[in-house]
Amino acid sequence: MLVEIIQQQHRDLKELFSRHQEMLLQADFENATHRLEQFRICLKIHMQLEEQYLFPEFAEIEHKSKWDVTLYEKEHEKINQLYLDIADSLQWLREQEFNKSDQQRNIIALLDKEKTFKGLNEHHEDREEDALLKELDEQLGERELKELKLDINLTWAEAKALVNEAQTV
Ligand SMILES: [Fe+2]
Ligand SMILES: [Fe+2]
Repeated sequence: MLVEIIQQQHRDLKELFSRHQEMLLQADFENATHRLEQFRICLKIHMQLEEQYLFPEFAEIEHKSKWDVTLYEKEHEKINQLYLDIADSLQWLREQEFNKSDQQRNIIALLDKEKTFKGLNEHHEDREEDALLKELDEQLGERELKELKLDINLTWAEAKALVNEAQTV
């Protein structure tokens, strides 16, 4: 089922983001940045494959849920904006020469921002899993689903290989 494949990608993304947060919590800004970038590579590919393979299919079917494909697209935009804000804040934090206390307070401020980002993402992912993907699984034909799964799995395997490669450097 499509929903299972995408759920797994959502879990993979969560794991990558947690890896970044572990480093941020330790004030290891170099690794926090590196891991945030790895998360970004996968998030971008994840969104692109949804936009390329799933959203056009969803726009074609007669869906029962009240949310139109434009809402999912807008949520992607919003998530991207908030991501940029987080990446900017991390870059700024990296450049400061704070004392320990100020540094910790600024890390907390960034973690708060990241909490909003995580909330937005979770909300969007739940909506995809409960509505968009569920309806695609119900309405698309077996052959169509098979082709979509193949394309999606292949693209995701490439994304993960990119990140794994970067980890070993
Ligand atoms: Fe999405
Ligand atoms: Fe998604």
